Amino acid sequence: MRILGIETSCDETSAAVVEETGDAAKPWVIRSNVIASQVPIHREWGGVVPELASRQHIRDICGVVERALADAETAWRDIGAIAVTQGPGLVGSLLVGVSFAKSAAAAAGVPLVAVHHLAGHIESLVLQNGELPLPAVVLVVSGGHTSLYDVDRPGRYRLLSRTRDDAAGEAYDKVAKLLGLGYPGGPIIDRLAAAGDDRAVPLPTTRLTHADRNAPQLKGDLDFSFSGLKTAVLRYVRAHDGPLADGEVADICASFQRVVVTALIERAFAAARRTQARSIGVAGGVSANSRLRAELKAHGDAREMPTFVPSLTLSTDNAAMIAAAGLRKFRAGSTATFDLNADAALPL
Ligand code: KG4
Ligand code: ZN
Repeated sequence: MRILGIETSCDETSAAVVEETGDAAKPWVIRSNVIASQVPIHREWGGVVPELASRQHIRDICGVVERALADAETAWRDIGAIAVTQGPGLVGSLLVGVSFAKSAAAAAGVPLVAVHHLAGHIESLVLQNGELPLPAVVLVVSGGHTSLYDVDRPGRYRLLSRTRDDAAGEAYDKVAKLLGLGYPGGPIIDRLAAAGDDRAVPLPTTRLTHADRNAPQLKGDLDFSFSGLKTAVLRYVRAHDGPLADGEVADICASFQRVVVTALIERAFAAARRTQARSIGVAGGVSANSRLRAELKAHGDAREMPTFVPSLTLSTDNAAMIAAAGLRKFRAGSTATFDLNADAALPL
């Protein structure tokens, strides 16, 4: 069976065709994955402007879907189901995908599957690498989320911890903005950090020891916090006399990146010890980060722990991961009705 996936939760309009293989170890293959990025539109404003994002999704969605079908050499009659991101994300953006998917499913007479955006990021690991050795610990680290999940069987995600404040990608974007580097900040800081000294700027690490009052069911000691780090960079920059030289910017980037990556790696491996995980996966936009990828591999090799990341294209938002998660849900018997609504704060 082939499924059409649609993703419009933030600033990428994406459609993809993913097919089942029949091989339990490597269940899906990508037939097409078309991504129309809105980055040039939002760059001017230094971040995503929700109203501009939803309007651009409306302009792009028909063409992106047509292109995904054409690239996959797939006709509407060959599509067995349509999967769409229901949330979380920007509600106006989500609504474009959800409305389009409902209309297309009704017109084509195929089932509709509602997908959680983070389930998509988690399944991007399986789409890329095949089924992970379970139980697995999966770190989803993006512009909107930084969360650790225990995946004890395929398609079941149990939250272990999350950020108390900023997401890691959000911290990258904010630090890049305050350094005047542009949007999105993650790839820029990643590149500049290569030329910097990662010990040059003293920056704080935050380790939480108490449970969060808002989430008493979680122990809390594996939670993340990045807003103090961002504020420390801001203070450092403000205390600096005059404009920063290129070398100083590179040092700040490298030092900031070291602290972020260390926190992510430490907590992912601590979670894996706690759940006796047989593998660790890292997904979401920040998993494209070069230092995070390198340290994940090095730590995994040193501890004989298999580690997995998606390809760079599957790291950031895309519809192929939504199609994959949709196939997983469809095979588990879960379809949506036509009263499906977007949910900006959908829980996983
Ligand atoms: O998953 P994603 O495309 O969208 C969300 O669901 O949020 O993630 C986007 C985030 C942005 O914050 C961006 O700065 C960050 O991923 N990002 C990176 C890198 N590439 C993208 N962060 C650090 N290093 C990178 N190379
Ligand atoms: Zn995402």
